[in-house]
Amino acid sequence: MRFLAAFFIAVLYWATTITAAPAIIKPFKVCDATAKGPFLRQRQEAALKDFAKLFLIDKNPKAAFDKYIPGEYIQHNPDALSGREPAIAYLITLQATPGLVYSNITLIAGNGLGLLHYRRKSVQADMDMAIMDRMGFKGTCMNEHWDVRQRIYGNETNPLAFF
Ligand SMILES: *[C@@H]1O[C@H](CO)[C@@H](O)[C@H](O)[C@H]1NC(C)=O
Ligand SMILES: *[C@@H]1O[C@H](CO)[C@@H](O)[C@H](O)[C@H]1NC(C)=O
Repeated sequence: MRFLAAFFIAVLYWATTITAAPAIIKPFKVCDATAKGPFLRQRQEAALKDFAKLFLIDKNPKAAFDKYIPGEYIQHNPDALSGREPAIAYLITLQATPGLVYSNITLIAGNGLGLLHYRRKSVQADMDMAIMDRMGFKGTCMNEHWDVRQRIYGNETNPLAFF
């Protein structure tokens, strides 16, 4: 009986997701600057997660920007200027650093902001940093950036330093 119920639910689920869904539920556009509604926070978090995958795991900043930052990009990093192109150019060079590794990646989104926190490390000691990137959202696209960096020396007083 229980098996039959489970089977029935599975078939129903399959039918709604595979066959009927396109007619009933319009799939969300990944980057939609006009997106709003009850699931906006979750959609922004999903966008940030995919952005982080493209940017930090695949190390493909161009793909990350093309997908989620298609328009204006307001930059607050003191050493850079606004605009997609300078950011992409800088990040492509950065991601080509030998032995670059990202770890301890966490993220959260809400109230039109997303926060990415991670460790960046390479063979160069001065690259070892704990970084927070704060992203501003317009719908489910991103359009603004602030960052904070802490250099990691490995001699920190606090055994819980950074992560
Ligand atoms: C951070 O990442 C390192 C290396 O991947 C791991 O050993 C460590 O447990 C992580 N720390 C936290 C707090 O997640
Ligand atoms: C850790 O090392 C750095 C670089 O040598 C130094 O500037 C800093 O003062 C040291 N910090 C501590 C807590 O010893």
